[in-house]
Amino acid sequence: MAITREELRERLDGLPRLQLAALPTPMEKLERLSAHVGGPDFWVKREDLTGVAMGGNKIREFEFQIAQAVERGCDVLLHAAAAQSNQSRQTAAVAAKLGLKAVMVGRRDAHATDQGNLLLTRLFGAEVHLPEVEEQSAAVAAQIEELVRAGHKPFNTSSDARVFRAVAYVDGALELVAQCADAGIEPDAIYLCSGAYTHVGLVVALRALGIDWRVVGISPSPRDDVAAAEGHADLAAECAGVLGLELALAAGDFESYAGFVGPDYGVVTDESRAALELLAQQEGLLLDPSYTSKAMAGMLSHVRDGWWQKGQTLIFLHTGGTPALFAYAEDLGY
Ligand SMILES: Cc1ncc(COP(=O)(O)O)c(C=O)c1O
Repeated sequence: MAITREELRERLDGLPRLQLAALPTPMEKLERLSAHVGGPDFWVKREDLTGVAMGGNKIREFEFQIAQAVERGCDVLLHAAAAQSNQSRQTAAVAAKLGLKAVMVGRRDAHATDQGNLLLTRLFGAEVHLPEVEEQSAAVAAQIEELVRAGHKPFNTSSDARVFRAVAYVDGALELVAQCADAGIEPDAIYLCSGAYTHVGLVVALRALGIDWRVVGISPSPRDDVAAAEGHADLAAECAGVLGLELALAAGDFESYAGFVGPDYGVVTDESRAALELLAQQEGLLLDPSYTSKAMAGMLSHVRDGWWQKGQTLIFLHTGGTPALFAYAEDLGY
């Protein structure tokens, strides 16, 4: 049986939460894009505008995830990913805001220039390490060991209390459902770029509320879609458990595609560049090179392939990432 929005809100309100994001994020109609492609009505949910540190989906996720770090008495926020990681930037900023130490263990990849996210991560005061790509895992383990030896209690925002990142998008979904009700919108699908958390949180919330909107995830990294759906179902079970929801979601409930990544994570493709330019030039809306431009390319490709027509409504959930643009001028041909 479906639960009500109020009941779901009460379950979320029972969890530790920090107040970081500027919420609710706006919903905007992309009228010129609809006219340009001659297709469905498009809306964008601006999770790129969550406020702190130039925004993005992690700021909402951190309200619940980093609340767990605070509960556990952690004094260091650590993050390890690509040199232009949005999450490293957001981790460093939130650490600064909470008076915690930040450590980034990035990697010396093709975009390890002091621009974009890496510049901002340094500016937020993080201790930055950039080992060679093949040495990154060992460097993370060594950093954690060293911090613990020095008496610190580190919290890795990639992996610790990870389920709370999905829980945060149950909150995001409640916000979206309320905005759709206010605007009289019944979307046929929601498109987004997600590794797992944003996607899983949305689906858990919608199904718990008995709402059957389709959620289409576009992966930023190469992966097997079937294995990804199985992983999403496991995370959904964990998320439902945290919220005390009786919800049986299976791999078949998660639709995601890795077919728009191109050769690798963080590599600009002809389609992602075209999507980035189209949204910039038709709507004055910035996408990012690694995540949202690939999701937009995926959504537009599905429209071209006849999945969606005039009269239908699609919502694009913009997860942020735009500071990385400044490290990608050459890749984008500027
Ligand atoms: C801009 C952007 N979009 C999407 C994602 C994926 O987010 P998640 O896997 O938490 O849903 C990330 C971070 O990994 C990101 O920085």
